[in-house]
Amino acid sequence: MASITVITRDGQSHVLPANPGMSVMEIIKDAGIAELLALCGGCCSCATCHVHVAADDMARTGPASADEADLLDSSDHLTPASRLSCQMAFTPALDGLTVTIAPED
Ligand code: FES
Repeated sequence: MASITVITRDGQSHVLPANPGMSVMEIIKDAGIAELLALCGGCCSCATCHVHVAADDMARTGPASADEADLLDSSDHLTPASRLSCQMAFTPALDGLTVTIAPED
């Protein structure tokens, strides 16, 4: 099965099973990682699903959309690797993706 690796705020690495058709946010929430709040449920309106994509994976995930970038602009932890995990649809092409949950704003 495909998987992603999520690094939580305590620095722990978690390898999570990943199914196509889910967003990266849904994969993280389904695994019970509560620190990713995802308060809006994936509607691209809260930015509490902010993650940083590993440098080696940025070409695979691509850049944030315009709406996503607008929301991320309000974060104190915005970096070139910033994405909203609810806006990244998992596909087999993202097998092995690594993301780090951004610090809370
Ligand atoms: S869950 Fe709210 S913007 Fe991603």
